Amino acid sequence: MTPEGSRRFLIVTGKGGVGKTTVCAAEARALAAKGKRVLVAMCHSKERLSTMLGSPPIGDEVTPVVENIWAINIDPAKAIAEYGLMKLKVRILYRAVFENKYARAFLHGVPGLEEWSMLGKAWWHTGELNPDGSFKYDVVILDAPATGHGLDMLRVPKIITEVVPPGILRGDADAAQALFRDPEKCGVILVTLPEEMPTTETIELAHALTGELSLPLAKVVVNGVLPPLFSREERAALLAMPTSGDSGAMAAIVAGQSRSTRENVQAECLSRLSAALAHVPTSFLPQLFVDAARPEAIDALAKRV
Ligand SMILES: Nc1ncnc2c1ncn2[C@@H]1O[C@H](COP(=O)(O)OP(=O)(O)OP(=O)(O)O)[C@@H](O)[C@H]1O
Ligand SMILES: [Mg+2]
Repeated sequence: MTPEGSRRFLIVTGKGGVGKTTVCAAEARALAAKGKRVLVAMCHSKERLSTMLGSPPIGDEVTPVVENIWAINIDPAKAIAEYGLMKLKVRILYRAVFENKYARAFLHGVPGLEEWSMLGKAWWHTGELNPDGSFKYDVVILDAPATGHGLDMLRVPKIITEVVPPGILRGDADAAQALFRDPEKCGVILVTLPEEMPTTETIELAHALTGELSLPLAKVVVNGVLPPLFSREERAALLAMPTSGDSGAMAAIVAGQSRSTRENVQAECLSRLSAALAHVPTSFLPQLFVDAARPEAIDALAKRV
């Protein structure tokens, strides 16, 4: 498998709140440290990347963030208009379509158009060139929406290539889809927690991405991993201890049991993930007990991602 370091487009997705943006930040830091120029594209989100990277807020224009890292929080309405201007070229025609409130309302109602405007714009940046003809960014990292919405977004190019007649839109969707499906150039990073629901969703998402959409998986990142304090036998012994009585040791036993239960769940989730996704490289990020949205924490995670 190609290491994600040589890929030009990375799609980071997973269940809501599992650490997708944290992983985007850590991945961007790790790639930037290797000298890669990285663009992180967020999908119209409540932007927290700037806190993680220690920069001023990131808006809807590409902004330099820290050395070798640029970012944008894509605004779909703006992206649709920009795409229109790029494709229609003639400003009068563009105004007639995109600056007409009825046309705008119509466009925003077209299913998939907002998703495509964000995914398509992020993809477009992979081909953006410097005046000397070199690529502006070595890697674009898409901080994609959570599971269901992320999947809806990633389905759009396939739908366009299947139902839209050949033309401008179809040409771009075909090219984007070809890049997304090329394991040398693109990969999905699935972020999960070692907990039941995220593990189940991750396995289902992996099947949908590789089966229905033929997208290559770059890796699974299991975030929030606890360093095990107890062996399997110790956990079983702790969980078998009675918790009644008034011994001073009781609080310690209850705490040990709660930790043992978490470690049991974690062990079970890790083995389910490795059985279902045996062929996918996996990284483990520790559960931090400090504010993980600080640049120092992101730098520490970048070494493990
Ligand atoms: N390894 C970790 N240890 C401790 N806290 C973490 C860790 N990873 C992420 N967090 C914290 O968990 C919260 C959610 O992380 P993040 O914003 O990256 O998730 P997300 O998947 O992008 O969420 P959303 O679905 O809302 O976009 C943040 O406060 C983040 O700092
Ligand atoms: Mg996020």
